[in-house]
Amino acid sequence: MSVSSVNVRRRVLLQGACAMPCLGMFSSSRAQTVTEEFQQLVQGLATGSPEAVARDERYWRQVARFYEKTRGIVNLEHGYWGKMATPVLNHYLEATRRINRQNAFYARKGYETDLAQSVQRTAEALGVGEDEIVLTRNASESILNLIRQYRGLKPGDVVLYADVDYPAFKRDMAWMGTARGVKPVMLTLPSRATQQQILDAYLQAFEQYPRARLLLLTHVSNQHGLVVPVREIVAAARKRGIDVFCDNAQSWGLLDYTMDELDVDFAVFNLHKWIGSPVGVGALYIRRSALHKIAPFPGVSDPEENHIHNRAHIATSNFAAMISVPAALDFHQAIGGKNKQARLNYLRSLWMNEAESLERIELLGGADEASRTGMGSFRIRGKTTIADAQALQARIEKEFGVFTVIRKGLASGACVRVTPQVFNTPDEIEQLLAALKAINRKPA
Ligand SMILES: Cc1ncc(COP(=O)(O)O)c(C=O)c1O
Repeated sequence: MSVSSVNVRRRVLLQGACAMPCLGMFSSSRAQTVTEEFQQLVQGLATGSPEAVARDERYWRQVARFYEKTRGIVNLEHGYWGKMATPVLNHYLEATRRINRQNAFYARKGYETDLAQSVQRTAEALGVGEDEIVLTRNASESILNLIRQYRGLKPGDVVLYADVDYPAFKRDMAWMGTARGVKPVMLTLPSRATQQQILDAYLQAFEQYPRARLLLLTHVSNQHGLVVPVREIVAAARKRGIDVFCDNAQSWGLLDYTMDELDVDFAVFNLHKWIGSPVGVGALYIRRSALHKIAPFPGVSDPEENHIHNRAHIATSNFAAMISVPAALDFHQAIGGKNKQARLNYLRSLWMNEAESLERIELLGGADEASRTGMGSFRIRGKTTIADAQALQARIEKEFGVFTVIRKGLASGACVRVTPQVFNTPDEIEQLLAALKAINRKPA
């Protein structure tokens, strides 16, 4: 890459502008300066433990400068998809222009190399082999590859999932009942639970359903941010011959981990949530030694059974999004996964710790710190219908200027979910807390 193209890129990143840089023919246009620029801004700040960094407001003010924020509303709904930091956004826009200009010439001759780099960086960040990861368009696509192509079921077997799982994935598991002649069983977890209580609930289900052969397990629930003890549940499942499909769509980047910590054989991810890639990037992980349990994508042949990319077929997809993964990972890693997790947990603790003493407010999800993330949910005690949650969400938005979202998948009823991002401030969390206090005084 020529010096001038690097300089052009640097200018684009620094100005946040959308100029058209003159890059090499197939340059993957990796934003070399993402990390450098970040380091310059935070120089001298935040050198302690993640918990100390989490409380260093000067550091997070600098981080916030890398994001364009909505005006006129405090947005505390970042569980849907992750906003790109401006260097990632600029990289993506530039890649979109370049690929559009080069069209099939790039797609047919340059894309494969760039895509391989995105796979390599994803695998490296997760601590797995490149032959164990395939990039997909989202976690929903990845889970369908697992569910439809799983070979390990006989009619009459039981497949387990839980109320805290992602609603569409619950539907997919239930679909196996008619499609595969198995018995789908949905477990109900306590609306608030510790790691031990969650583990006990799964252990009890394993005892109750000896014909269980497959479990959908959600690392972090999209309902209330609950973290389940994946490693322990997987170990218990494995002893009983139960395979586990782990849904890491919400957890990767919200929590900092590598796959050896979870020890799962199958997992699905989103990079467009907490890793901060453009929308349209997910991943599928299949442990090398478990590949034979997932059939190739319908119609694809893989006689040697050794190619994970034969398990998915993403067809024509957003080239620019796929090749922006290294830039997104650069930015994520520049902040530091552990720092990000600690900051998001800290922001959650700022409202949840105080809300704990509000007698009319019911908090949901993790009952101990290990079961909690930056995401959390609540409702007015006894008000569990969807209409109740909608009214509560609308009141918080209209009267207090704070945007949240309702979730309606829990067996215990609907709730309002709160999900700050790294650029939200303690003052904004205070605005939510003021709303909760007012609602506690006057619930209707
Ligand atoms: C826990 C969980 N699983 C799966 C998904 C599905 O993600 P996508 O729509 O990107 O496939 C989500 C999305 O919010 C989620 O939170």
